[in-house]
Amino acid sequence: MPKVVHTVAELHKILQPLWRKGEPVGFVPTMGALHAGHVSLMKLSRAGGNVLTVVSVFVNPLQFAPGEDYDEYPRDLGGDVKVARDAGVEVVFAPSVAEMYPRGFVTWTDQDKITEKLCGEHRPGHFRGVLTVVLKLLNIVRPNNAYFGQKDYQQSVVIQRMVTDLNLDMKVHVCPIIREADGLAMSSRNVYLGPKHRTEALVLHQALVRVHELATGGERSVKKLYGEVKRIIGQAKSAKIDYIAIVHPETLEDVNDVSGRTLIAVAVRFGKTRLIDNVLVE
Ligand code: PAF
Repeated sequence: MPKVVHTVAELHKILQPLWRKGEPVGFVPTMGALHAGHVSLMKLSRAGGNVLTVVSVFVNPLQFAPGEDYDEYPRDLGGDVKVARDAGVEVVFAPSVAEMYPRGFVTWTDQDKITEKLCGEHRPGHFRGVLTVVLKLLNIVRPNNAYFGQKDYQQSVVIQRMVTDLNLDMKVHVCPIIREADGLAMSSRNVYLGPKHRTEALVLHQALVRVHELATGGERSVKKLYGEVKRIIGQAKSAKIDYIAIVHPETLEDVNDVSGRTLIAVAVRFGKTRLIDNVLVE
């Protein structure tokens, strides 16, 4: 069983001997409701030369806007610990909100430009909350390697930018999207989907596979690729598109044509469930 700790002090007792000896620590930050996507990150950490892997489980209130799903977000620490155990993780860090944000907490981390696009445009304040908690977690765990999933593509870009801009001495690994057998990207929010929306949600992957095929086959027109994504997603009657983005993979700026590496990303609502997915055209 992994050691489950709830305070920074308990965690530091475990990590201090490793820091002293300079032994590499791997870190997988999560909000729990662990699934095969998280397991793939834990396994990459275990295989990546780290002597110990820490998984944090913390539903961060700062990254949810009022009216979003903070209260409903699935929480099952017992189940998460079993998943972490099966993945061979040594430590689960599950702090309380008061441990992370004690009375008097007023300091935030924020970023210009890239946080204002894509999800940032539709979830104001979201990345400010993500950056703040991730910087705190990185300061608490002081990992050598931190693992994030490509499914939250924009999150991985803003975190990499923060690590560079603030000279954090660690490596960020962005790891491949893990999908269900039918193509739906793994997400803790998939549990919200009823049977109808679960079936409809397959249009996301179908649209991305199709435009990836078109783009790698030579289609350069952003307008045509955008139109194709919209058409395929539109086949799902309940789909409400937040955005379809065809952008530069680092700056997230719109591209004029798909001639270099390009990110195609979507965010779509099925009823109350908002799903994101993406593909990189290399
Ligand atoms: O991707 C997530 O689960 C969260 O945004 C993260 C990185 C754990 C920060 O709360």
